Parts: sequence; structure tokens; C-alpha cells
Amino acid sequence: MWIIANWKSNKTIAEALDWISQIGPQIPKSEKLRVIVCPTFDALSEVKKAIIVGNFPLLVGAQDLSPFGTGAYTGEEPVQTLSQFIDFVIVGHSERRQNFGETDEMIAKKVVQALDNNITPLVCVQDENTPVPEGCKLVVFEPVFAIGTGNPDTPENADEIAKKLKEKYGDGLEVLYGGSVNSQNVKGFISKPNISGVLVGNASLDAEEFVKICKNCAL
Ligand code: PGA
Repeated sequence: MWIIANWKSNKTIAEALDWISQIGPQIPKSEKLRVIVCPTFDALSEVKKAIIVGNFPLLVGAQDLSPFGTGAYTGEEPVQTLSQFIDFVIVGHSERRQNFGETDEMIAKKVVQALDNNITPLVCVQDENTPVPEGCKLVVFEPVFAIGTGNPDTPENADEIAKKLKEKYGDGLEVLYGGSVNSQNVKGFISKPNISGVLVGNASLDAEEFVKICKNCAL
């Protein structure tokens, strides 16, 4: 079961460390749970250190990465430097597609960069028609209407889309759901047979609420 906190463009380093120190000791230690926090790039190093020092059952992910490797690509974050801190990366979030012109082609290049460097990519898809790049084994179904609106999709529809994605790309594909997930509705999604976890935006910013989400998933 994957529970992923996507902080988006939020939290200073001090706020990030406060969150880690609050939730770290409270995350249920379960073999089944993989809890990942995705801070802004500038907080990655400190967040990683705090997790190691506290010996917390938390992994670190990035929210994006460069489609290129190291080299003359001003402003980009290549996987080779990110992998000092991360095991995981979100690729192709709809906010990046909308605001930064990310195309399926760029997303496929980013997935190659991640896979070649042993980082697990999580590709965001809007429905079963968004292409899933080759080699990608983890996707999240995030309908745009549900992102940051407080208006989630139904667990039944999310499960149906997850089923279609598995039919198309094979049973080895794990499918998560994202879009207005909170501690109240998370169980409805994770109890569906084709859904392997959740990507949480707004509700992950509040440490207490995020702990509740983790605890509800561990039950
Ligand atoms: P939300 O965001 O939980 O705030 O809807 C989810 C996401 O965009 O990853």
C-alpha cells in the first residue's frame, strides 16, 4: 500500500522538519505500508537527514525531475543529483502538464531517466487513455476535476479506471488514486481491489491529518 504526500510548492525547511518530527514517530510500522513524502527540491536534503536521524519508516520522493541528465540544462534537477536524496519521483502531474507545457514525450524521457538510475517513477494519468511510458510499473489516476477541489471521484469509478489501466498495461501495473483524498474518504479508495494506494495533496500538509490517513490505511 502506497501513501504519498505531495506537498507541491509549500513549506519552508523549518516547516518541513516540524512535519517530519510530528509524523515520524506516529507512522504505523507495517511491512504493507510504504509512506513517501515529496517536498520541494530545496527541502529534500534536510528532510532526508531528519528521516535517517529519527529512523522513521518514511521514504523521500521528488515532485519532478529533468528529462535530461547532468550537463548544460540551466534550472533543471537531474536524477543523478536528486538520487542523493530520493527513491521515488512523481512524473507528469496535471499541474505540470497545464502550467509548464509538459508533454507525453517529455514525460516518457523523465521516466527513462528515473528507471535508468533506479528511481521509481509514479506517472500521473487523467484516465485510461493517458499513455503510460514503457517500463513504468506505478501510476496514479488523478481526474483533474478532483484535484484540490474537495470533490473526489467515487471509489467505484476510480476502481473501474484502475481496472482498465491494468487490462491495457498488464497486471504488474500498480494503480493509485489521487484527488481530494483525506482521512475520511481514504478507506473507500484503498479497499477497492484494483487500487494500491493514494497520492495526497492538500490533506498531506497538515501533520495530524496525514497521520490519520496513514493509520486508516494500516487498519
Ligand atoms: P489534492 O491533490 O489531494 O489536494 O486534491 C492531489 C494531487 O494533486 O496530487
